[in-house]
Amino acid sequence: MSLKSNIYRFLLFISMILLTSWSEPKNPRMDLSNEAILPKPVSVTAFGSSFELNANTKIFVKGESAELLKIGHYLANLIKPATGFDLKVITSTSKKPKSNYIYLTISGLESELGTEGYKLHITKKNISINANGPEGIFHGIQTLRQVLPKEIEAASKQKMKWFIATGEIYDYPQYEYRGAMLDVSRHFFIAEDVKKYIDMLAAYKLNVLHLHLSDDQGWRIETKSWPNLTVHGGSTAVNGGTGGFYTQEEYKEIVRYAKEQYITIIPEIDMPGHTNAALASYPELNSSGEAPELYTGIKVGFSTLDTKKEITYQFIKDVLRELSEMTPGPYIHIGGDESHVTLMEDYIPFINKVQDIVLANGKQMIGWDEIVHADLKAKTVVQFWARPKNAQKGVEKKAKIILSPANKAYLDMKYDSITKLGLYWAGYVNIDCAYNWNPSTLIPGISKKDILGIESPLWTETITNMEELEFMVFPRIIGHAEIGWTPDSLRDLNDYKVRLEKHSDRLKIKGINYYDPNAIFKDEPEAKE
Ligand code: ACM
Repeated sequence: MSLKSNIYRFLLFISMILLTSWSEPKNPRMDLSNEAILPKPVSVTAFGSSFELNANTKIFVKGESAELLKIGHYLANLIKPATGFDLKVITSTSKKPKSNYIYLTISGLESELGTEGYKLHITKKNISINANGPEGIFHGIQTLRQVLPKEIEAASKQKMKWFIATGEIYDYPQYEYRGAMLDVSRHFFIAEDVKKYIDMLAAYKLNVLHLHLSDDQGWRIETKSWPNLTVHGGSTAVNGGTGGFYTQEEYKEIVRYAKEQYITIIPEIDMPGHTNAALASYPELNSSGEAPELYTGIKVGFSTLDTKKEITYQFIKDVLRELSEMTPGPYIHIGGDESHVTLMEDYIPFINKVQDIVLANGKQMIGWDEIVHADLKAKTVVQFWARPKNAQKGVEKKAKIILSPANKAYLDMKYDSITKLGLYWAGYVNIDCAYNWNPSTLIPGISKKDILGIESPLWTETITNMEELEFMVFPRIIGHAEIGWTPDSLRDLNDYKVRLEKHSDRLKIKGINYYDPNAIFKDEPEAKE
């Protein structure tokens, strides 16, 4: 063969290669089913290719819903820091544009999706999130965030391409109540910290933040009709800490901020026990007529309102009226736990009366599991933490149950014997223990239909700041979020741990001080004495 024909054949070969590569999509092949999504979605179908998010991608909000438009901007703001892209948010009732869009659409989908479910559809050309309600779109965005490269969580611009695996995710929660509780009484957390916590909870599709606003050690909500509650009762914390309280404006701002992320705030005023801060502020609430000293220790069960005094109920009416006026959510939590110095014959009529006050304010009552001894009205909710028998009795009385089993769901329990922070009266709660249980089989006689959902409380006797909070909360709360969201039949400990391991890179990038059982030297903050 001549040199000329060899050159000719070589050129032909090269041009064929170039032609094929031009006609191939330039986006890499990616597998959506390999992504570590937490909580695990109901179904994931991979299409095998990828979508590239770039500076020209636009967010298209179908229709003229102001709420959806706000979510569109939320998405744009989420994407901006790490990508540097200032994505345009376009709203229109006209037809969807053709390519490089993220569509957010509320449309009547399968009823199975409910108000919180969503369908996330990713092709090479576009992304769409469909849902029956704005909450669903919001949750779909949290999933989209987790299928973007992990660097999306960076606070500053990253030099990289932003490919997302193509496919479809169909997803909805198994329980309607998926909560966290923060005790701001033992140690106070300022409103800005509560907002940071709200951001963290929303990322895992939690939808409730229960604030434990009063206890023996501190009263944390401005109560205009009884001002000494905060002036005196809010002035300190465990170990003589600085204390503090939310002004009503700050509380309303927390409620507003949470609502934007589809999180309902549930305020708790714990009574008749856990009331030393109130008793110390107003002598007339005490049986003796004398106010005790403020309390900065961590014992429980020694205080009680006088359940027989008329002034006690005036006090509760005022407090719950002010609280209800600032709380758009349907629930008021009245505590009711560990009232060890209140006689049962006094406790029962007390809870009955408080329940009537809650109802008169147009709210549903939630109480810790001890409240089952009272006459529960329809819609009152029982929060199980200690005694399975109480939860069973609650179900007999037709109450719905929130599950917070202390030996699995309490975020203040130590991970193991060498954890410096936390307590261990309910046992150690390591990552496996926090994840490996099913709400619907936990307590004999209590099945899925009786359960409103699950909640992860963080009591703060030993927790003084956000670094410590993060260490105790993460990653256990991610497991709890999955228990609340993902059908039990799709959950598996080993699969969860593989996803969690991958996901931990995102926690690192976000700067969350999470507990890593594999780290030899854990970044655990020193426990304060
Ligand atoms: C509780 O842990 N005392 C509800």
